[in-house]
Amino acid sequence: MESCVYVDHAATTPVHPTVARAMAPFLSDRFGNPSSLYRLGREAQAAVDRARDDVAAVLACRPGEVVFTSGGTESINMALKGVAFAQQLAGVGNRIVSTVVEHHAVLHTLEFLERFGFDIVRVGVDAQGRVDPDAVAAAVDAETVLVNVMLANNEVGAVQPIAEVAEALQRRAETIGRKPPLHADAVQAPGQLPLDVNALGVDLLSISAHKFRGPKGVGALFLRRGAPFLAQQSGGGQERARRAGTENPGGIVGMAVALEIADQQRDAHVRHVRSLRDHFFARVLDEIPGAVRNGPTDDRLANNANVGFAGVDGQLLLEALDAAGIAASSGSACTASSWEPSHVLLAMGADQDAAAGSLRCSFGLENSRDDVNLIVERLREIVPTLRQSHPLTPSVSAPAQ
Ligand SMILES: Cc1ncc(COP(=O)(O)O)c(C=O)c1O
Repeated sequence: MESCVYVDHAATTPVHPTVARAMAPFLSDRFGNPSSLYRLGREAQAAVDRARDDVAAVLACRPGEVVFTSGGTESINMALKGVAFAQQLAGVGNRIVSTVVEHHAVLHTLEFLERFGFDIVRVGVDAQGRVDPDAVAAAVDAETVLVNVMLANNEVGAVQPIAEVAEALQRRAETIGRKPPLHADAVQAPGQLPLDVNALGVDLLSISAHKFRGPKGVGALFLRRGAPFLAQQSGGGQERARRAGTENPGGIVGMAVALEIADQQRDAHVRHVRSLRDHFFARVLDEIPGAVRNGPTDDRLANNANVGFAGVDGQLLLEALDAAGIAASSGSACTASSWEPSHVLLAMGADQDAAAGSLRCSFGLENSRDDVNLIVERLREIVPTLRQSHPLTPSVSAPAQ
């Protein structure tokens, strides 16, 4: 493989070698179905059970509160639809409170629920991309079935005050008589933020293995015991009938190992990526005219840098970086043929032009200071060239993941 400087760890991460080793036997001789009663099956079941214990230990929950899924998008769909439909059936109400800066997995699931009669309230954010816990609580009424706030934003790295949201909901419950379940999309958090579900005060929480050096196609949903939930996937009753279908033991084991490593090495990882991120910001803001920091200075994912280059087409910027061997991301979202600036940056008050020329670098353990210096050197050449040769025109760019 041709080498490149990979600074898109918010999109996905390389599988940790220890994770790959732990998974390998499940792709060869340990191929049993966990539901089978003979030894090969029982061993697969035991591996899944151990992995569930390990994931639960990191989330500080009961093993029975962990449901294995195919990734972040499925966990989020299960959480939002599962709670919403259960509450609707029970006649609790139709209102869901969320934020304007969520990932499309949340935004589009909420649009889906709107078609089933749910009333979605989308709370705004400040210029740093952060939601006000009291504004979230104020949007909650007695008919509210669910509150959803992401733990950390994938585009600008803003860390939301989830524990404060939970406290504000508790205070609100004194007035309206009940506290709706709180779901957090924590897909960007493992390896960077603590995931103790009780300290966070959440009832549901979604994670995805490939964001923390695990395999793709595996995730987990923390579903607090007693939370209202209607299963959407019917079948053989696996995962205590909350998510039917033969489990993926290799993937599940890989995720558990990756999560343990991410949790144990969190402090060292955060120190490393934060120093790279700060070096990147310091140089770019100092050396490239018109560069602005998007997102917060504090309460930000340690590995996330998002910079706006006014007057630069983000798509062309990514292409030029790619040609220079640098894999990064833009903040813009798109459909196949129409260009759309980032909904996150627009919600933070950026104008269309500034939102169009944004660049997200998300650093990982294998990145070095030399990588950062190389990226800055390339940007110093590319940004002025693009401003001159291609004054901003609408273009198609890939969504930030
Ligand atoms: C914040 C956030 N939520 C959800 C997802 C979806 O996760 P997955 O890729 O596992 O479906 C992503 C990743 O793109 C994300 O960054």
